[in-house]
Amino acid sequence: MLSVNGLCKSFGTHKVLDGVNLTLNPGEVVSVLGASGSGKSTLIRCINGLETFEAGSITVDGFDVAKPKELAEARRRSATVFQQFNLYPHMTAVENIALAPVEVLKRPKAEVIAEARALLDRVGLAHRADAYPAQLSGGQRQRVGICRALAMQPRYLLLDEVTSALDPEMTAEVLDILKVLATTGTTMLFVTHEIAFARSISHRIVFLEKGELIADMPTADFFSDRGRSLPRVARFLSKLQGEAL
Ligand SMILES: Nc1ncnc2c1ncn2[C@@H]1O[C@H](COP(=O)(O)OP(=O)(O)OP(=O)(O)O)[C@@H](O)[C@H]1O
Ligand SMILES: [Mg+2]
Repeated sequence: MLSVNGLCKSFGTHKVLDGVNLTLNPGEVVSVLGASGSGKSTLIRCINGLETFEAGSITVDGFDVAKPKELAEARRRSATVFQQFNLYPHMTAVENIALAPVEVLKRPKAEVIAEARALLDRVGLAHRADAYPAQLSGGQRQRVGICRALAMQPRYLLLDEVTSALDPEMTAEVLDILKVLATTGTTMLFVTHEIAFARSISHRIVFLEKGELIADMPTADFFSDRGRSLPRVARFLSKLQGEAL
C-alpha cells in the first residue's frame, strides 16, 4: 500500500499541501483532480522523495520516504511519468528504457533489452525501438516514457499530466495505453485534467483544493449528487459540462 498521512508542505510561507491523507491499494486506479496550483504535482514529487515536507508521513509498502535509509526502497516500488518526457537524447528508445534496470537494478543487459523491446511492442512502437527521441513524435516519446517507467516493474505507477503537452491525436494514443494498463491491474495514481478519461478508468477520485484533499470517493459518487454536494466540486464539474463529460 502507498500511504500518505497528514502531509504538509510549504514553499516559504506558502502552504501548498495541508494535511493530505491518501491511500493507494494494489490494483487501484486513483485520479487526482483539482485546479492548477492546487498541489497535485507537489504531492507526486513528495511521494517520490523529490521534495522534503514539514509534517506527516509517506510510506510505500511500509518504507518511509522521509527516512534516508528507506527512500531507495520506497522509490524502487514506484515509478513516475511526468509531462515532459525527459528521455536521454543520445540514447535510442530501447536504450532509454533499458538504462535504469541495468544500472540501478543490476539486471543482465541482454534480458533487459529483450524486455524493453517487448514493452515497446505493447505500446505499438516495436518498429521505432532503435530511433532516437528527436526522431519520435511527442506521443511516441511519451509512450517510450511510460515503457521506461514500466521497465522498473514498479508496484505503483504515478502519472503527472502525461498528456498535457500533446495534441489530441497523440493524447488519444497515450490514453489508449493507459487504459490497457488500468484494466490489466496496474496500480496507478493519475494526475490529470482529462476528466472524462479519469472518470472512465478510475476506481476513486480525489480532489485537491488549495492543498487540501477535500474529496476522496468512488468515481461514480464523485460524479453524482454526492460529489456535487461539495460546492467546490460542483463548481469544478459545472465548468466541464458538455465539454469533457
Ligand atoms: N519549487 C517551488 N517553489 C515555490 N513554489 C512552488 C514550487 N513548486 C510549486 N510551487 C507552488 O506550489 C503550488 C502548487 O503547485 P503544483 O505544481 O503542485 O500545482 P498543480 O496542482 O500541479 O498545478 P497544475 O495543474 O498547473 O500542474 C503553486 O502555487 C505553485 O506556484
Ligand atoms: Mg502539476
